[in-house]
Amino acid sequence: MAFPQSFLDEVIARNDILDVVSSYVHLTKKGGNYFGLCPFHNEKTGSFSVSPDKQIFYCFGCKKGGGVINFIMEEENLSFPDAVRFLAKRAGLEVPEENGDRESSRLRQRVLSLNRDAARFYYEMLHRPEGAAVGEYLERRKISRKVAMDFGLGASLDAWDALITAMTEKGYTKAELLAAGLAVQNSRGRLYDKFRNRLMFPVIDVRGDIVGFGGRVLDKSEPKYMNTPETITYSKRRILYGIHLAKKTKRPNFILCEGNIDVITLHQAGFDNAVASMGTALTTEQTRLLSRYTKELVLCYDNDNAGRTATEKAIDLLNNSEFTVKVLNIPNRMENGKPVKQDVDDFIKNRGAAAFERLLSGSENHIEYQMEAVAAKYDLGDDEQRVAYAEEISALIAGLDNAVEREIYTGRAAEKAGISREALQLEVQRAAKRRLGRERRERQRKEMNPAAALQPQDRTKRYTDIHSAMAEEGVIRLLLLDSGLAASCLQLMPEEFSSPLLGKIYGALLTCYQENRPLQVSSLAGLLESGEMNHLTTILQRPESIANGPQAMADYIAVIQTAFRKRQGLDQDPLLAARDKFKNKKGYGGKQNA
Ligand code: UTP
Ligand code: MN
Repeated sequence: MAFPQSFLDEVIARNDILDVVSSYVHLTKKGGNYFGLCPFHNEKTGSFSVSPDKQIFYCFGCKKGGGVINFIMEEENLSFPDAVRFLAKRAGLEVPEENGDRESSRLRQRVLSLNRDAARFYYEMLHRPEGAAVGEYLERRKISRKVAMDFGLGASLDAWDALITAMTEKGYTKAELLAAGLAVQNSRGRLYDKFRNRLMFPVIDVRGDIVGFGGRVLDKSEPKYMNTPETITYSKRRILYGIHLAKKTKRPNFILCEGNIDVITLHQAGFDNAVASMGTALTTEQTRLLSRYTKELVLCYDNDNAGRTATEKAIDLLNNSEFTVKVLNIPNRMENGKPVKQDVDDFIKNRGAAAFERLLSGSENHIEYQMEAVAAKYDLGDDEQRVAYAEEISALIAGLDNAVEREIYTGRAAEKAGISREALQLEVQRAAKRRLGRERRERQRKEMNPAAALQPQDRTKRYTDIHSAMAEEGVIRLLLLDSGLAASCLQLMPEEFSSPLLGKIYGALLTCYQENRPLQVSSLAGLLESGEMNHLTTILQRPESIANGPQAMADYIAVIQTAFRKRQGLDQDPLLAARDKFKNKKGYGGKQNA
């Protein structure tokens, strides 16, 4: 897949970051930099900056940053090669495709075209006598012809090779049918249709391509749903069923539900903002895709155990994200005086679209959902359990920033448990105090240990030797400010870096220098993953002066190499060792009670 370096450099050079970002974000000049509202998180004051000198963007709020390729990867939700192609096209450059690349892109095109023909085939079968069973099933599930057509629903036949035969006639090969996941091979090498006697749901991506299929049985047999396996076009982590329609919604949010039929029922009832992940918990890839269209999600999973787990997982994933999250609880239905669980599909069919709209507008927010969950853990008829409930619910309420909210939810929780409002209020105040104390201690710990502030946000990138790491950051900053300094650090090896990430960045910059290519952040887009790139742009925000560049470089190098030798155990000066020992005994390092 690798593009020639010279081509990448050309793409970067012809796409000035200021031009590119300006077509997405309104920027205002402040000093040498430009500022605007960050497109990657919700904010009211602009902490998103673009530096034309460094050709980087950086958000002081969410700490995302990188070069022009990273910006397009984030903003357009593209992979690295696709972002490069996007920018090449923008600058009118022709993309040199490698052989392997051309082949895989050809196969991708063939699979997409095969999927389209297969969907057409399934669709036609639905209207033939052979597909009548699926047609009746659609009627039973009250799915209208119009909506069935919008979603391209179809029928796979009760036969071993109906699709294979039809597609072979159209010129598709065995290999292509296997690559699309539409055919399966048995141990004797014979192909048969993967989907048989099922209601077929084509899975359509944002571009309108059919990337795969889901298929549901018509009776109670197992497995209920079968989906396309991972193929060159279908990755279950990346797809959202219904996104091709939902992306055009005028509603302010997206509804995330569990199943294909839920999505279809919601669209049919006028909620054209519904999507579902098919057979997986919500993934980061899916949230990134969603963030292109909305900043508000309504979780509408089944109200059974699996649904609750899915909701909790999604909340975890969305915590601290740019999204506002609401959780919708589908109430049970009463049958013969007994509560029966139902999903969105059942709810709409039983109660109608208007009832769902009411449920949606009163969508319970995050805190209410969490309060429900706490309440569900305790038997509130039992005194001892009521005390435990009061304690846990107070801690939850104390975490709310807003005093009015705290008051409202205290009232509700008190009522629920049959405790007096005043008593619970006291409990909440106590919890708030404990919380403040904890936060204060946390802050003090940070102030006493300023090194903590210098650590990368991401724990997996933690520096093990902070002193050396600061010098390593310095070397990288200097090189990016003045590539002429590279000549003076050729004796410094990437392996001498204490931080593998900084060593990797440094090594890449050295290579650029040796190959006579520009030393710039943008060139590293293909080498670093987005978290690493964010860290690189974070360290570039720390001050560095080139006024005395050569001296600073020499100092940094000395610090790094001394630390390296120490780690290698090469500095075994007996005097120094004795001093270190003494120091530790006296606890000078601030580690008295360690
Ligand atoms: P559910 O079992 O909740 O089904 O699975 P559902 O959507 O309510 O289906 P109906 O109403 O009985 O037709 C939720 C989703 O999980 C995926 C499917 O995408 C399904 O829509 N799933 C389910 C699978 O991928 N495989 C399975 O075997 C079951
Ligand atoms: Mn269902």
